[in-house]
Amino acid sequence: MTTQLKNIPNHIAVIMDGNGRWAKKKGKERIQGHKKGILSVRKLVEEASKINISYLTLFAFSTENWKRPKNEVSTLMDLIVLSLDKELKTIIENKIKLNAIGDINSLPEEVKKKLKETIEKTKKNRKLILTIAINYGGKEEITNALKTIINKVKKNIILKENVDEELINTHLYSKNLPDVDLLIRTSGEKRISNFLLWKIPYAELYFTNILWPEFSKNDFYKAIINYQKRERRFGKTSEQV
Ligand code: IPE
Ligand code: IPE
Ligand code: MG
Repeated sequence: MTTQLKNIPNHIAVIMDGNGRWAKKKGKERIQGHKKGILSVRKLVEEASKINISYLTLFAFSTENWKRPKNEVSTLMDLIVLSLDKELKTIIENKIKLNAIGDINSLPEEVKKKLKETIEKTKKNRKLILTIAINYGGKEEITNALKTIINKVKKNIILKENVDEELINTHLYSKNLPDVDLLIRTSGEKRISNFLLWKIPYAELYFTNILWPEFSKNDFYKAIINYQKRERRFGKTSEQV
């Protein structure tokens, strides 16, 4: 499979879904699916960095995922800490900058600590901006931004007339991320599940039936090739683009 190196999406976001169903299919516990899923993350990050993707944003844990059984939630949190620890060396070697979006301050102490530590240690890197969405919900992100803006308007730090799209953007967790070009969701579900609402107005959506733990390098390139065949019009006519 040949991927053209031109017209590579600048920002790819991924809803990594299907760990539980993969485990079930294999007669394993759900947690085993999450563990296997980490290997897919590793491969994806490596490939994305090879072909010079600038921004890769991964949905790791949603604000809705707290509703899952307690032991699944706590194992997921442990896995996040363990993976960051284990991958730190590779992240640094590959000049990857780690970024996190979501209500990070409400996460368990050790997750918060590990995230902050990894972000700090990789802050000068520029090769690939790898953003982990954790305790992230698109609606929560926008609500949180609005609360801050309203407070600033009340205190006259911001004038009401100056509230525009750009200003709203600068109050989001994802303020430093450009709009998503390609959004990939695995496992056959065709929904957004509250991911990156403000950043996907013109994202090209790509759905695949592959379960996340089986998502390979080839599947990644398939998604990119599919993206490269699309015409992005942004409201214009075909003749104009
Ligand atoms: C995605 O896989 C991982 C997270 C949401 C953390 P799921 O755990 O949602 O897997 P399914 O959808 O149950 O198969
Ligand atoms: C979305 O997957 C969240 C993550 C991948 C972290 P879910 O499995 O939680 O989504 P729904 O509940 O099926 O929409
Ligand atoms: Mg799921």
